[in-house]
Amino acid sequence: MATRRRTLLKVIVLGDSGVGKTSLMNQYVHKKFSLQYKATIGADFVTKELQIGDKLVTLQIWDTAGQERFQSLGAAFYRGADCCALVHDVNVAKSFDSLETWHEEFLKQSHNLEICINILLLQNSKVNPFSDDVASPADPKTFPFIVLGNKVDIGGGSTRVVSESKAADWCASNGNIPYFETSAKEDYNVDEAFFTIAKTALANE
Ligand code: GTP
Ligand code: MG
Repeated sequence: MATRRRTLLKVIVLGDSGVGKTSLMNQYVHKKFSLQYKATIGADFVTKELQIGDKLVTLQIWDTAGQERFQSLGAAFYRGADCCALVHDVNVAKSFDSLETWHEEFLKQSHNLEICINILLLQNSKVNPFSDDVASPADPKTFPFIVLGNKVDIGGGSTRVVSESKAADWCASNGNIPYFETSAKEDYNVDEAFFTIAKTALANE
């Protein structure tokens, strides 16, 4: 019997503390939402199987700590990412301003990480520098990001400070990043956003 190879896609979710990264993942994977806030410590992943066209895909979604004091793992787990999702809260201006930093930090850290790994591999001298074993860093011009503007449910939009057009402009000027407005609480656009994340990751794989 023919076996079909499952494709593993790795996605990193970044953004300020409290924007709803864990809630979005819980809604997407477990269809659960809680109003109680429990800060993520370190980083952990969940997986979800899905079908994209004729491909069976395992989406491995890495949830990370927005709070700096809980970023104990550093950025080691960025390695091999196929897509990076940047989340902000449309009611908190600072969380939108931070997108720039998260975006730069992801590119810088994954670049540094690949350089370190390559130095270690080459020191080991069993590796041909031109072989596939040598890791290639994320190309800042082409690495796929996606931006999620979360918590659009709050106050029916009355407390919102980051408009859809402002977020879309930022995405357009940073390499045409896809943008989704979401609510983890109301399960609004969550499946759609993660499906686009998976498709984007698959295209980059
Ligand atoms: P860190 O783990 O500290 O980085 O935070 P986080 O980004 O994972 O935030 P988390 O998912 O823990 O959510 C923070 C708070 O916002 C919690 O109280 C959630 O219930 C609430 N929350 C998350 N998403 C939504 C949403 O879409 N709407 C509303 N109204 N509340 C939300
Ligand atoms: Mg969290």
